[in-house]
Amino acid sequence: RTLRIGLIPGDGIGKEVIPAGRRLLEALPPSLGLKFSFVDLEAGFECFKSTGVALPDKTVETLKKECDGALFGAVSSPSTPTKGYSSPIVALRKKLDLYANVRPVKSVAPTPAFPDPIDLVIVRENTEDLYVKEEKTYDAADGSGKIAEAIKRISQRASSRIATMAGEIAVRRQRVRQSTGDAANKQALVTITHKSNVLSQTDGLFRSTAREALEAPRFQNSGIKIEEQIVDSMVYKLFRQPADYDVIVAPNLYGDILSDGAAALVGSLGLVPSANVGDGFAIGEPCHGSAPDIQGKGIANPIATLRSVAVMLEFLEQEEAAAIIYKAVDANLSEGRLLSPDMGGTAGTEEIVEDVIRRF
Ligand code: NAI
Ligand code: MG
Repeated sequence: RTLRIGLIPGDGIGKEVIPAGRRLLEALPPSLGLKFSFVDLEAGFECFKSTGVALPDKTVETLKKECDGALFGAVSSPSTPTKGYSSPIVALRKKLDLYANVRPVKSVAPTPAFPDPIDLVIVRENTEDLYVKEEKTYDAADGSGKIAEAIKRISQRASSRIATMAGEIAVRRQRVRQSTGDAANKQALVTITHKSNVLSQTDGLFRSTAREALEAPRFQNSGIKIEEQIVDSMVYKLFRQPADYDVIVAPNLYGDILSDGAAALVGSLGLVPSANVGDGFAIGEPCHGSAPDIQGKGIANPIATLRSVAVMLEFLEQEEAAAIIYKAVDANLSEGRLLSPDMGGTAGTEEIVEDVIRRF
């Protein structure tokens, strides 16, 4: 099978890590029976400066018509408000209905603070909640100044599909753990995060809909445990006992905050992958930005991108290929011989990619 992958490097180190992702795909073992073809696509702030648009229609159309998946590097944001500029990845998520942001967080090695291995994934709803950006500002009737308001919109449809995706991810992770003999160490668990004790209607709807979706017949005999956790105590527990978590599902805002916070648990931003996922399409995207302070030096850590390639492949139903990548990356990290400067080493981007590929 040949998968066609759109490559959107964007700005800064995006231009260094996305080629690393391509190199990785090209080097996958032939025994997988997988081939890849690539199409280079533009987006980002440089693209905006040269063409006047941050996300050209051609990029969107090519992804829709030709591609099975894509890799997105990072884009720089203008430092001052710039007329006509808006984030291309936010627009892409909308245009392709990529309704989930999936962020696996995995520790490299035990540390004194976290002796048990951290291996969790945050599944963030990506289309609604406060991020519908329906805001207004008006003068208070009593003359005491301005008042600003924002709509928090939660729908049954979006809550149900994100929870269903979280359930499917939990089932898949369980299957992988069974095949690697790790199942005894970790119970499949989905934690529904909310604040329905205060926001009984919006978060209340998220909570009840998510629970219903996870209790549906398709998950009945899957052995997944369902838990609920109020978001503030979730932060506390996540930072005390991250090893206790498996799959965390959350509405947009809480998911955004939890996923950046969880990335801090495992060290460098250069390690943490993500994918923007819809039905039948996925864009892998490292969590870091365009890192202008190190751009052009060839020292960007490619691991976040290599793992994002694997997350993308999982959602394109290429679990075996994904597992090979995860394993090779983990071996590179745990050996600790070839690490990039952000990890305390001296290796360059290309050296690390070659070291990962060597382990296939
Ligand atoms: P950043 O993630 O680009 O960099 C933060 C720090 O982490 C820097 O010191 C950088 O050198 C380091 N770093 C990040 N990725 C690394 C990697 N792969 N290897 C080694 N070191 C790495 O965040 P920052 O500096 O706040 O933002 C820079 C630009 O990126 C801004 O224009 C910002 O708007 C944009 N940005 C874009 C994102 C995206 O496209 N998804 C996400 C975050 C920021
Ligand atoms: Mg964020």
